Amino acid sequence: MILSRQARPETASTTAPLDILGVSKSFAGAAVLNGVSLAIQPGERIALLGPSGSGKSTLLNLVAGFEQPDQGDILIDGRSVVALPVHARRIGMVFQHYALFPHLSVAENIAYPLVRRRAPRPEIRERVDRLLASVRLQGFADRRIQTLSGGQQQRVAIARALAAEPAVLLMDEPMGALDRSLREQLQVELKLLLQETRATVIYVTHDQREALALADRIAIMNEGRFEQVGAVEDIYANPASAFAAQFLWAGANRLRAVAGEGGAAALGGIAVDARWPARPSQAGAGVDLVVRPEDVTLHEPRGDALTATVLTALFAGTHRTVQLELASGEPLNAVQPISAHAPIPGTAVGVTIRPGAACAYPANGR
Ligand SMILES: Nc1ncnc2c1ncn2[C@@H]1O[C@H](COP(=O)(O)OP(=O)(O)OP(=O)(O)O)[C@@H](O)[C@H]1O
Ligand SMILES: [Mg+2]
Repeated sequence: MILSRQARPETASTTAPLDILGVSKSFAGAAVLNGVSLAIQPGERIALLGPSGSGKSTLLNLVAGFEQPDQGDILIDGRSVVALPVHARRIGMVFQHYALFPHLSVAENIAYPLVRRRAPRPEIRERVDRLLASVRLQGFADRRIQTLSGGQQQRVAIARALAAEPAVLLMDEPMGALDRSLREQLQVELKLLLQETRATVIYVTHDQREALALADRIAIMNEGRFEQVGAVEDIYANPASAFAAQFLWAGANRLRAVAGEGGAAALGGIAVDARWPARPSQAGAGVDLVVRPEDVTLHEPRGDALTATVLTALFAGTHRTVQLELASGEPLNAVQPISAHAPIPGTAVGVTIRPGAACAYPANGR
């Protein structure tokens, strides 16, 4: 969606800091959030990334007011909101399954938060028109919700969430139900829209690329805690744990290695120049080595390099993805330029990991 100039001010929300202070929540005795804290600046966009069940939606539900924390506090604009009902918190919400009102038209859905707060009718009409323009749904005002595509319905949900100028916008996998090409298109549109609104945003996703593309900071959740919080480029460059690395570097290889002397790691008896974002292990200790496929180079076999057997190579237009098996039996994925010879299944190839590219972490229990 290309935002027209006159649409711009209409997506602008008020803005406020959001402080999550030592929040804990259990359901039926099972701890889901374990004292999480996060200070979010006015207008900042935070992506929550983490496995299923790690507590992402629960945290959003607590901020929204659908659930109450057992412990801790939540402040919007410096004031505790835990005692306030949902509609008094100045939040907007977008869910994976749109949660639109099926019996209302597109315009009525978007107007709903404004009608609820008894805004004057001319103001409602004008604001709905501008929001329709900014989500590229001009001409859809009177359409029934059931007649819209998934992507169109999600645009209506976003416009509705922005209608009442929320200070905080909460989005729980808003593109989770859409297919990949639509997601990629909507990602660009959403980025533009989020640049226009001044709302503080928490965005939940399973998709690491979406988190990197849309957020200023990423918080990685694991079992009801923040595993790591950081600016997108910093956290991508230096994942603090093997768990964080596998989430941020989706599709990365995780290999068993051994710590060598002076910060080296040995993989299949070959030294690999690795980084240690957490702490270096003592020589001889077990190490998890996380390596992105694009940092694996394939070449002729030679004595001072690892060897692997080619299982298969997939042509992907701009590159090839190659599946290999190391002598240890571990799988290894590599990405190769199209200009390189296509690896032949069943043959042995030499493998080199780009110096300084792999991250090494002390292995748990090894
Ligand atoms: N209302 C509830 N009653 C009981 N258990 C709940 C409730 N809400 C969440 N849980 C439990 O809390 C845990 C965390 O759920 P949550 O929905 O926050 O995870 P999530 O990180 O959003 O996962 P997903 O990626 O699958 O959406 C899960 O084990 C879930 O079953
Ligand atoms: Mg969830």
